[in-house]
Amino acid sequence: MPRFAGLLALLGGLSAVLASANVSGIYGIVERRLPQHTGKFTFTSVEGGGDAFVISDTKGKQGGITVSCTTTSGCARGLYTYLTDFGGVDIFWTGSRLHELPSPLPKVGKPVKGSAIVPYRYHFNTVTFGYTTAFWDFDKWSLLLDWLALRGVNLPLAWNGYEAIALEVFREFGLSDGEIFDFFAGPAFLPWNRFGNMQTSWGGSLPMQWINDQATLQKQILPRMVELGMTPILPAFTGFVPRAMSSHYSNASIVNGSAWSGFPTAMTNDSFLEPFDPLFPQMQKSFIAKQQQAYGNITHFYTLDQYNENNPFSGNTSYLASVSASTIASLRAADPEAIWVLQGWLFFSSETFWTDDRIEAYLGGAPGNDSMLILDLYTEAQPQWNRTNSYFGKQWVWCELHDYGGNMGMEGNLAAITEGPVAALHANGSSMVGMGLTMEGQEPGNEIVYDVLLDQA
Ligand SMILES: *[C@@H]1O[C@H](CO)[C@@H](O)[C@H](O)[C@H]1NC(C)=O
Ligand SMILES: *[C@@H]1O[C@H](CO)[C@@H](O)[C@H](O)[C@H]1NC(C)=O
Ligand SMILES: *[C@@H]1O[C@H](CO)[C@@H](O)[C@H](O)[C@H]1NC(C)=O
Ligand SMILES: *[C@@H]1O[C@H](CO)[C@@H](O)[C@H](O)[C@H]1NC(C)=O
Ligand SMILES: *[C@@H]1O[C@H](CO)[C@@H](O)[C@H](O)[C@H]1NC(C)=O
Ligand SMILES: *[C@@H]1O[C@H](CO)[C@@H](O)[C@H](O)[C@H]1NC(C)=O
Ligand SMILES: *[C@@H]1O[C@H](CO)[C@@H](O)[C@H](O)[C@H]1NC(C)=O
Ligand SMILES: *[C@@H]1O[C@H](CO)[C@@H](O)[C@H](O)[C@H]1NC(C)=O
Ligand SMILES: *[C@@H]1O[C@H](CO)[C@@H](O)[C@H](O)[C@H]1NC(C)=O
Repeated sequence: MPRFAGLLALLGGLSAVLASANVSGIYGIVERRLPQHTGKFTFTSVEGGGDAFVISDTKGKQGGITVSCTTTSGCARGLYTYLTDFGGVDIFWTGSRLHELPSPLPKVGKPVKGSAIVPYRYHFNTVTFGYTTAFWDFDKWSLLLDWLALRGVNLPLAWNGYEAIALEVFREFGLSDGEIFDFFAGPAFLPWNRFGNMQTSWGGSLPMQWINDQATLQKQILPRMVELGMTPILPAFTGFVPRAMSSHYSNASIVNGSAWSGFPTAMTNDSFLEPFDPLFPQMQKSFIAKQQQAYGNITHFYTLDQYNENNPFSGNTSYLASVSASTIASLRAADPEAIWVLQGWLFFSSETFWTDDRIEAYLGGAPGNDSMLILDLYTEAQPQWNRTNSYFGKQWVWCELHDYGGNMGMEGNLAAITEGPVAALHANGSSMVGMGLTMEGQEPGNEIVYDVLLDQA
């Protein structure tokens, strides 16, 4: 069985007729990682549903391998299946052995088919951008993005450059640079600043050069993601604002979030502009428009967490429903097809606050079931989907966390990550639509547990 097995789909299937996939980005993987084999691989796009591929020996004397696919991601995963199952080589977080692929290329004989069993294969945790990638250059990103593409990931988080956009938005709304830089954290702490857990930087403010460099890096990362068949999940305006916001807008509903991790008030209790305040959708619109202008209209997925290790101002269910209704309305006013991606960690970490009623109210504020995508963040050990009626119908992703704070875990519950996702997918009334990796830090040393999950997706 191919490693990407599961449901085998027949290419050129009956119903789905999709625009043909642009597979030119997959040739880039061959050029970067298998330079001695350029010209030996052929990728072709065929019509059909889902993310599916067929690997076959290229007909004719020249030999080589042909991968045909219904989507760019399907071709990438088809190439990976060939490289690992027939070529005996792999790519790792620590490097790559793909260049050791034998020549001439081993034949496959009977064509090999595979297809994804879920529409979304997700990667990253907001905090990975602090624990692991804070100081990465594009070479390191390039290796990781090839790793992701080959494993079939098609929905990665893309936080780099957030402060460049946020800075422009805050300036437009009248804040001074001093007030804004009083809010931004240092590079390695930005995930928790973005979450509204902490604010301000010590040892000097976040350098402007760093902000600009990150925006430049994002302009390399995003096109690469797109050409590898991925839809980036981009940031949005969350509501967390510099403390000085309330002196500029004395009428605005701005509340303080809770204290985080024992920090003194000056560094935590971040100010939060309530989403039902008229200022919120204006700032959202400004944020998304600036982001589209900077990076193009490449996604409808937005990562947005208001209560990660940070409890709401009130537990009143009408209040919670109003916060989420206003938040999704602001996103959709800026991008009519916006989908709100939420890290579901809060429902576990603040389980006593987040009773079923409150979760239902908060999620229920967003219309229908497709307006949100919830990352059930720690499904292998602390699933929340099963206490919330599959998030009351909202779409969600089965995620493996495994690594906390960049601590290497030479362990892994293989039964939980193999039986678990398949059982959840087939559970009665399941609204699960993806599988993904939400490790806090990516520590090399135990990639087995990550491979195993994505191999099933
Ligand atoms: C396909 O993607 C490549 C980038 O990988 C781009 O240069 C090219 O214009 C695209 N082709 C079409 C038809 O969109
Ligand atoms: C604040 O609200 C009051 C009462 O609604 C209004 O008169 C005033 O103009 C508002 N001020 C600002 C700065 O919006
Ligand atoms: C938020 O905290 C700051 C700093 O302690 C304080 O000055 C401000 O009054 C607080 N705001 C609210 C709405 O409680
Ligand atoms: C900070 O949050 C804590 C709750 O975590 C609260 O008790 C305290 O009053 C808050 N401080 C401010 C200034 O808002
Ligand atoms: C919740 O808020 C609504 C609207 O402000 C109010 O009518 C209701 O009494 C509140 N419920 C509780 C339990 O405080
Ligand atoms: C991007 O989408 C926005 C609406 O969300 C639209 O106003 C803008 O024209 C689009 N830009 C491009 C380049 O298509
Ligand atoms: C959800 O599943 C986990 C893991 O199987 C289990 O420990 C937990 O009791 C379940 N929760 C509910 C409410 O069924
Ligand atoms: C959302 O899912 C729930 C649970 O399956 C279902 O009861 C509800 O009708 C769905 N809502 C829509 C708008 O489809
Ligand atoms: C699945 O759920 C529906 C609605 O809750 C129920 O009517 C049906 O009996 C369930 N089926 C199974 C096999 O549990």
